[in-house]
Amino acid sequence: MKLLRDKVMTEGIVLGNQVLKVDSFLNHQMDPVLMREVGSEFARRFAGEGITKVLTIESSGIAPAIMTSLELGVPMIFARKHKSLTLKDDILVEKVYSFTKRETNEITVSKKFLLPGDRVLIIDDFLANGEAAFGLARIAEQVGASVAGIGIVIEKSFQPGARLLGEAGYRVDSLVRIASLENGTVTFVDEVHE
Ligand code: G4P
Ligand code: NA
Ligand code: NA
Repeated sequence: MKLLRDKVMTEGIVLGNQVLKVDSFLNHQMDPVLMREVGSEFARRFAGEGITKVLTIESSGIAPAIMTSLELGVPMIFARKHKSLTLKDDILVEKVYSFTKRETNEITVSKKFLLPGDRVLIIDDFLANGEAAFGLARIAEQVGASVAGIGIVIEKSFQPGARLLGEAGYRVDSLVRIASLENGTVTFVDEVHE
């Protein structure tokens, strides 16, 4: 997706060899025009999959997910990372370990909003090790919903998430794929010549 790739090139800041800072358009300030394009692109890629719900995790997944759900004409649900006072009973819970943060979080979704038979599209801003996406997939599968696929805004292809999710049978569709952040430079997957 050219608009997104240009944004990453002009505004992305490489931290170390592993982390891309994109707080000017995705993780802090958000670019609504870009998010609308991101939503249209996911909707186009997953059209015909019979999606009934878009599922993400707070907080940075919410913007791309809501734009996707608007375009598909279905509700969007975000998993919570912190227990809500009003969300006590009838919740779906999964543990998600973050290698980046070295901590385990419990993510929760109310059983009211995910139903057996739902066809779920998972959306997230970043894919690194895949733990968040696996957790969201387990949440959907707990209730007997099926996962149609996983749409990622920025995939770090040098980390194992995309491969592991693919091996587990999930369709992963990423709008940009980063092969490397070595030497302070963003290299996209299709720029790597083998
Ligand atoms: P994983 O789910 O793929 O295993 O990823 P991981 O645990 O490593 O990610 C932990 C947090 O760090 C997630 O955000 C994820 O989006 C973010 N993250 C991972 N790699 C990068 C990166 O290169 N750049 C940026 N900007 N973020 C990255 P989170 O803690 O859930 O925060 P939020 O922004 O959604 O609130
Ligand atoms: Na994030
Ligand atoms: Na996220």
